[in-house]
Amino acid sequence: MGLSMPLTLKRQNNIAIVTIDNPPVNAASHAVRQGLLDVVQETERDPTVQAVLLTCAGRTFVAGADIREFGKPPVEPHLPDVLRLIETAQTPWVAVLHGSVLGGGLELAMACRYRVANAGAQLGLPEVNLGLIPGAGGTVQLPRLVSAELALDMVAGGKPISAKAALHAGLIDALTEGALTPFALSFIDNLASHPVRPSTLDKAVNLPVDQAAFDEKVAKVTARAKGQKSPVAAAQAISKGFNLTVEEALQQERETFLKLKDDPQSAALRHIFFAERGTISLERLKGQKLAQIQTVGVVGGGTMGAGIAAACLLRGVSVVLVERDDDAAQAGFKRTADILAGSLSRGLVSQQKHDKMLDSFTVSANYAAFAHADLVIEAVFENFEVKAEVFSKIEAVVRPDAIIASNTSYLDVNALSQTLKHSSRAIGLHFFSPAHIMKLLEIVVPDTVSDEVLASCVAFGRQLGKICVLAGVCDGFIANRIMSAYRRECEYMLEDGALPWEIDEAMLAFGMPMGIYQMQDLAGLDIAWAMRKRQAAERKSDERYVDIADKLCEMGRFGQKSGRGWYIYDGKSRKPDPEVQALILSESSRKGITRISFSPDQIMSRILGRMQTEGHAILNEGIAQRAEDIDVVMINAFGFPRWTGGPMFMEGLSGA
Ligand code: 3HC
Ligand code: NAI
Repeated sequence: MGLSMPLTLKRQNNIAIVTIDNPPVNAASHAVRQGLLDVVQETERDPTVQAVLLTCAGRTFVAGADIREFGKPPVEPHLPDVLRLIETAQTPWVAVLHGSVLGGGLELAMACRYRVANAGAQLGLPEVNLGLIPGAGGTVQLPRLVSAELALDMVAGGKPISAKAALHAGLIDALTEGALTPFALSFIDNLASHPVRPSTLDKAVNLPVDQAAFDEKVAKVTARAKGQKSPVAAAQAISKGFNLTVEEALQQERETFLKLKDDPQSAALRHIFFAERGTISLERLKGQKLAQIQTVGVVGGGTMGAGIAAACLLRGVSVVLVERDDDAAQAGFKRTADILAGSLSRGLVSQQKHDKMLDSFTVSANYAAFAHADLVIEAVFENFEVKAEVFSKIEAVVRPDAIIASNTSYLDVNALSQTLKHSSRAIGLHFFSPAHIMKLLEIVVPDTVSDEVLASCVAFGRQLGKICVLAGVCDGFIANRIMSAYRRECEYMLEDGALPWEIDEAMLAFGMPMGIYQMQDLAGLDIAWAMRKRQAAERKSDERYVDIADKLCEMGRFGQKSGRGWYIYDGKSRKPDPEVQALILSESSRKGITRISFSPDQIMSRILGRMQTEGHAILNEGIAQRAEDIDVVMINAFGFPRWTGGPMFMEGLSGA
């Protein structure tokens, strides 16, 4: 049959088996849409075909429309038109699902009369994550197969559900743990004795069980969206659709989809989608022999050490954790085990996996325990001398090919590497807290690290499911350096006329998850104070220095833990504090500054300007490889709103 390249069609008796093969994720690109159109026309013409079985080659079913085509003019046939033909075909189509059944892929599956899946399949409509709503019928199809409430959650939340949950919800008809195609063929055999069911769009829509509760859910989506348009539009498409005919609902959906596709938020989210997947493309890493990292050593079982240990264990890597003494080792064990227990209680891992992780985890007070480690990561106190001593103790016991890494936040990883006999094995692996959850890993590249070690660490980061970004050596690397810069800018604004809660409000309204002063109060003000005292001697005399934070600490205001910091706390409730306001005002007057008022836009413009200036400096110095990497870091380290594309994208530097 004369099909377009990514599709093949073969016959097995009276069943037509069509296979989409469009690596890497079988996206519904133009050739796939054309191929499907050809198949549906061909099979409709052939009266001997009793059913069409739709399968995909490779690791997944269709994972969505082809995002790479979104920036270009649309080319016929359009996906909704192809799906309507499949939907209304006389010959029933059966979708055979594995891997990621997402977006246009799920819409395609829902356009088929029947759906069977293997247990590993994930089904979802994640378009909101790209600033869109489904555009090929998803918001109309889904509430005709599953409850209105689940449809709202899936379309507005964008999270996929498991095949098991999909079976329970009515989204698929059958599930197998075994081989999928034979299962699907026998499913079709069993259908032969039944009349063909109506198509999805011919079913009645499932109305909310409780309209008031449903409306409340919609209101929550709007509140949580904090300025992102797509979740709100998705919730509205579902809720308005209840009162529309199928044709009206499809038209409403398509219009919203096309409008959102051209919105800057969607361009920004697509930018980040590709930026996160393209962080590392270094010529020097290509073809390197990769170390197999099966056992990781961790020094220090505090906040970070325990999180790093858990991150490894959750990905099947064995861990040996060394602490200062037996008691500290046991405390580190408990801290890590608590994280694993949390994963178990939230249903993220099975009891069997949980027990296996504990079996692969040992603690010790003796560095000799690292004899078999492939990589050792230190996460001890942020102090150069302490870390240097730990580095040399590690080097004394590990295999000659073992990698030695530091999780330092700010210290000079070049200088730390030089404390080793073999500096080519040293690297910075800067995790973010909580390390088992945060997706970002800054890989800090010292001058002397070997290509093999660097490539192996990138592979290791990916093994842990992290987004790896390369960073050069400087104070704070990418994330913390930009954070220090805009924190300083905020302090200047305090002296110039703003108040902490005004700055926080402006940041929240912009879409940040927390204001900078709320964040400082949560983390505690004392550690940064200690660091500033250490750095005081090196500070240039002509540098603008704001003393307010130091004065708060001198007053014993260490943040939430001491009940007072930038704010005053009553339990968990936080209030502006007149004492802090008085201190700020008196500091402005002490420095002879006439205070001016700042609007939220002016506050954000100074913060963004500072982030961008520091971003440029970081690029010029070669600390970051690409402007996009800075966006990826800011979004994944600090919750900079994703739908803006990041500070560098906002400035128009990194392009759509
Ligand atoms: N279009 C084009 N390319 C895509 C793609 C898509 N929908 N989805 C993934 N890719 C590409 C990635 O860019 C990457 O390319 P690279 O190797 O050149 O970097 C490659 O496929 C592999 O992707 P991942 O590295 O993300 O692989 P994972 O195995 O980690 O994840 C996935 C696979 C879960 C499918 C993930 O890629 C994903 O979530 N993709 C996006 C799914 C999505 O949003 N679908 C909806 C699209 S919008 C839509 O369908 C509109 C419709 O309603 C009309
Ligand atoms: P922490 O104080 O919670 O833990 C440090 C642990 O190291 C303690 O349990 C201590 O007993 C142990 N330790 C100290 N010296 C040791 C030695 N010689 N041998 C063995 N164990 C030793 O500190 P935290 O927050 O876990 O930070 C650790 C490192 O991670 C620091 O370098 C910090 O800058 C960095 N970091 C911290 C982040 C955070 O958010 N807390 C984020 C990213 C990096």
